[in-house]
Amino acid sequence: MAPVLEVANIKKRFGGITAVDGVSFEVREGEILGIIGPNGCGKSTLFNCILGQLQPSEGEVRFDGRVTTGMRPCDLNRLGVSRTFQLLQIFPRLSVRENLILAGQEHEGTMLSRLVGPRDAGLRSVADQMIEFFKLGHLADERAGGLSYGQQKLLDAAMAFMAGPRLVLLDEPAGGVNLTMLANLQDRLKAFNVERGATFVVVEHNMDFVMSLCTRVVVLAEGKVLAEGLPAEVRANPAVIEAYLGH
Ligand SMILES: Nc1ncnc2c1ncn2[C@@H]1O[C@H](COP(=O)(O)OP(=O)(O)O)[C@@H](O)[C@H]1O
Ligand SMILES: [Mg+2]
Repeated sequence: MAPVLEVANIKKRFGGITAVDGVSFEVREGEILGIIGPNGCGKSTLFNCILGQLQPSEGEVRFDGRVTTGMRPCDLNRLGVSRTFQLLQIFPRLSVRENLILAGQEHEGTMLSRLVGPRDAGLRSVADQMIEFFKLGHLADERAGGLSYGQQKLLDAAMAFMAGPRLVLLDEPAGGVNLTMLANLQDRLKAFNVERGATFVVVEHNMDFVMSLCTRVVVLAEGKVLAEGLPAEVRANPAVIEAYLGH
């Protein structure tokens, strides 16, 4: 069976800077792959190249064996690929439920059907299931902007799951989240992976979070793959230790 995602020799140059310098890896069905590396090593740029926000300068991306390099984010959504961004993408003035419904609409139908369709486009029940799954029931009607930062990050992740995607790429889901919410987020991501059979790629700065969540880890340094393996292997790798201690 083809891997869910194949990234082959991706390069991205910005003027004289090569932010991503020939990165290759595969993601297999049901995996939670972690991507770690020091700040500025190209993690977000790599995500943007995989997800169509940026055109890679070189290389190829395949989803389910099909070349998707350069496809638009909305077309990738329709194929079952979803993402979160490093910075929160929630609408602070809308309620938690409205945010989820809106996220679901982004993946569904045309702009016209969104304009003329019923306001919740039948997504209310899906949103309520997601609210229950993420244990946000007591906050369903609260304005998202009034939630704690950790709760907002949880909502942000839930929004990426609204389309029932096969592959979700999460860019620093744990960034700035306190310990209690971190455990909560990790627990929900693991449950979603197991119960819904979703495959994840998680970019994260928090080593402990990655090591306990991910089944395999890719380490980036200066736009290149420095190491790859099981969490314990990667943690013990001298080159990895040096790259982290050097920054
Ligand atoms: N749009 C851009 N234009 C120019 N340089 C960029 C752009 N986006 C990122 N970079 C540079 O590319 C490098 C990698 O950045 P980024 O992918 O955000 O790293 P990370 O997510 O690992 O912190 C950095 O040196 C950054 O300054
Ligand atoms: Mg980043």
